[in-house]
Amino acid sequence: MREANRIAAVILTEIGDRIKPGVSTYELDTWAEERILGLNAKPGFKGYRSGNRVYPATLCTSINHEVVHGIPTKERILKEGDIIGIDVGVIYDGFFGDGAYTYAVGQVAPEVEVLMKTCRDALDIGIEQAKNGNRVSDISRAIDRYVRPKGYEIVRDLTGHGIGRNLHEDPQVLNYYDGKKGQKLKVNMTLAIEPMITNGTYKVRTLDDNWTVITDDCSLSAHYEHTIAITGNGPEILTRL
Ligand code: MF3
Ligand code: CO
Repeated sequence: MREANRIAAVILTEIGDRIKPGVSTYELDTWAEERILGLNAKPGFKGYRSGNRVYPATLCTSINHEVVHGIPTKERILKEGDIIGIDVGVIYDGFFGDGAYTYAVGQVAPEVEVLMKTCRDALDIGIEQAKNGNRVSDISRAIDRYVRPKGYEIVRDLTGHGIGRNLHEDPQVLNYYDGKKGQKLKVNMTLAIEPMITNGTYKVRTLDDNWTVITDDCSLSAHYEHTIAITGNGPEILTRL
């Protein structure tokens, strides 16, 4: 799990310099796939099945009002002022890595910077709760109580998840608090925590490509994700170099 997630972190770190106006999401995807293969790992999302859908790419590239699962294409060119969420999955020696980060393309408006920072901080605040003896709902509640008073909404239809030999395992990690007592967290559990927040509605819909999830009101959305392990010494962030 450490190696799979370290490789995800390598991609999210190195892709930062490649995100600039004029670049297509396809170019980013091709680069990421080759980089992952060069590190003796495989893309974790490409070929991933969910119902009758098969995900076709290495990265999810979700621009502006796209929340998650945007499919890279040659036609989609980044422009100054966009924000782009990059989500990457990796399989190394049978184990999954999963991480995401939202980047500014060139300069973005100050209020967009605040949206991104709030989501980043929400992820850190959620991770702090990922410790032995706590409950999954402690993570969800911490994120909810941090984000919503700031006037942002939290996407509810998508969640974080357990991760290991499969990309998605139990438990679900909600990013909002539903008032229920969640499952207890134990040492050696590995979780992908991934808040998605918007500056409009929490409601989302899926485009006709069957993957791209957008905000219902086309408001902007940010998404950050870390895979963490619960150790006897608190959370260890695996998707960090
Ligand atoms: N981080 C996302 C998730 O955990 C990305 C999945 S993309 C998919 O669901 F193609 F694999 F579905
Ligand atoms: Co995930």
